[in-house]
Amino acid sequence: MTETKELVKKLADKYGRARESLMPILQGVIEEERFVSSEAMTEIARELDIASAEVYGTATFYSFLDTQPRGKYVIRVCKTITCDMHGKKKVIEKIEDLLKIKLGETTQDKKFTLLTTNCLGWCHQGPVMLINSTPYPSLDENKVTEIIMDYMSK
Ligand code: FES
Repeated sequence: MTETKELVKKLADKYGRARESLMPILQGVIEEERFVSSEAMTEIARELDIASAEVYGTATFYSFLDTQPRGKYVIRVCKTITCDMHGKKKVIEKIEDLLKIKLGETTQDKKFTLLTTNCLGWCHQGPVMLINSTPYPSLDENKVTEIIMDYMSK
């Protein structure tokens, strides 16, 4: 069994094989391998008994299908309407300012990548961002500064 196969199996054992397990499994793969390979997608589809196209669709919809090397911490700010109305633009600008990168870029030391994503299901507490798989809701400029500083010192 390849490492990817083993990883997917382990994640499916942990999160279950229902359709709702797709997101946590994708996140688990990203955590371990930093991107979702076509092998991982095929394996996830097989384990959950769903079409590979569905796995691919979900991975790309959430921009989890990293095809470029990413930083150790991947920040994904929700860009969907509720978070947009609650100030996601200011949050992104603050992060760009702190990390000295633009949206879509990775810091030179490969520590951070800044991306956006679609609705994460935390709309009632937007704006929200994910750092790797941890959600940070109710962001404002102060809160985001604190969180990013904390990661910078890690
Ligand atoms: S709109 Fe941002 S979490 Fe739903």
